[in-house]
Amino acid sequence: MMTDTPYDLIVIGAGPGGYVAAIRAAQLGLKTACVEARETLGGTCLNVGCIPSKALLNASELYHEAQSGALAKFGIDFKGVSLNLDQMHAEKAKAVTELTGGIEFLFKKNKVDWIKGHAAFTSPSSIDVGGQSYSAKNIMIATGSSVPPLAGVTVDNDAHVIVDSTGALALPKVPKHMVVIGGGVIGLELGSVWLRLGAKVTVVEYLDQILPGMDGEIRKEAAKIFKKQGFEIRTSTKVAGASVKGAVATLTVEPAAGGAAEKIEADCILVAIGRRANTEGLALDKAGITPNKRGQIEIGADFQTNIPGIYAIGDVCPGPMLAHKAEDEGIAAAEFVAGLTGIVNHDIIPGVVYTYPEIASVGLTEEEAKARGEVRVGKFPMMANSRAKTNRTTDGFVKVIADAATDRVLGVHIIASIAGSMIAEAATAMEFGATSEDIAYTCHAHPTHAEALKEAAMAVTGKPIHM
Ligand code: FAD
Ligand code: NAI
Repeated sequence: MMTDTPYDLIVIGAGPGGYVAAIRAAQLGLKTACVEARETLGGTCLNVGCIPSKALLNASELYHEAQSGALAKFGIDFKGVSLNLDQMHAEKAKAVTELTGGIEFLFKKNKVDWIKGHAAFTSPSSIDVGGQSYSAKNIMIATGSSVPPLAGVTVDNDAHVIVDSTGALALPKVPKHMVVIGGGVIGLELGSVWLRLGAKVTVVEYLDQILPGMDGEIRKEAAKIFKKQGFEIRTSTKVAGASVKGAVATLTVEPAAGGAAEKIEADCILVAIGRRANTEGLALDKAGITPNKRGQIEIGADFQTNIPGIYAIGDVCPGPMLAHKAEDEGIAAAEFVAGLTGIVNHDIIPGVVYTYPEIASVGLTEEEAKARGEVRVGKFPMMANSRAKTNRTTDGFVKVIADAATDRVLGVHIIASIAGSMIAEAATAMEFGATSEDIAYTCHAHPTHAEALKEAAMAVTGKPIHM
């Protein structure tokens, strides 16, 4: 049955990309609907991604600080610290519910219609949701991504033995031994949660280093720190398969270059090997769109696909799979739909790994920058930053990479307790085309971690003060 309300825009998917696009479009006066297959709004990020993972990272860090005696040096002694995991999960769930409910409120406030169910194209300008047909002048695909299957390793989140990130966010008890397949962002963040709560954590990574795509020095420093924390990291190792008997899983691994297989026993295996775009079940052929070889939807600078009037944003498109990238694309794409010009600077999208310490970067890695031309690099250790010293959180460093000829900042990479907050300044500076000298001569409050960025910028031309 066809509804009699042709929309200006229908957004498919209510993750950070889709819900933000829908709100922006409504703000710009477009009659807008957003289709979501989940029970709640907010997509992967709010329901089973950014938000619950950060809630557990924060709570597990607090537990670890109290339980490990790490605060004793400040004169704070805890006795009889115990873990109530159900309560930890309950507080996480509260944050998720408050935030997903908040989007429902924003939809109502902005008069965005929420169409509940799974959308599939019936033509380039119409979709079917649960037997009901809806048409629109423009349709935006914001269906996000999900975990791909790994041959020989079958995820069953309900059994809690072989899980993906969604299962690892809801384990009912702390595993004795968790093996994480994949030394990327999810593996290290969720591995950190369970390590802090008492599990032995082994990370199995196919490549010769963890955190692919990040600056080489940062990857090395991160691996050193994580090993010191108790992570067992096995790089250049490939997974041949896994079997489960009751509550015990046996993982078969081999050297990536070939060699004798080895078995690792664990009571939990977390599969964290990357994510893939959600295009299945969308009947893209009815719209005239063919995904690329990686299953993603290709778009132009105006976020339109090869079919005029059909847009795509976020994880379903090429580029980093990050919530803020999806959000910014959602805003820009909605602006295009409304006849304006939306802009996302894809060269300056910060990325943060919320481990302890945090790892944050924006722009080119040193390797990428050097491949493009001559660079100057300034580094400053957190050990020499007074606030980090005060807080006794001296792990890590700040690194600024600048063009050797123009001094323009090309990349900033930080490993530090609050790197995720520090990177915003670097992103802003780079967005304004800053040189390292601009950052070095900007007055930074004392004592702050941010002073380490100023000093690293000073180091680009060889003159930090506190080193
Ligand atoms: P999604 O958030 O995936 O939303 C897509 C929505 O579309 C889903 O709700 C889905 O149900 C719906 N949908 C799909 N197909 C249909 C259909 N046919 N009909 C109707 N609805 C449909 N990123 C960060 O920046 N910071 C972090 O800290 C961070 N932490 C993460 C932690 C974990 C454990 C995971 C898994 C991811 C994390 N991410 C993080 C990545 C982030 O979640 C994604 O980049 C972001 O959610 C992408 O937004 P999106 O709108 O493109 O898609
Ligand atoms: P990822 O791409 O970060 O890491 C996957 C890792 O698994 C890589 O190191 C890869 O080499 C390895 N790998 C792949 N196949 C393997 C195999 N068979 N055996 C062993 N290792 C294997 O992907 P991840 O961690 O799953 O995260 C998915 C996405 O979610 C990322 O793109 C990330 O951007 C996003 N995310 C972002 C977060 C943040 O911004 N803080 C937090 C969590 C996820």
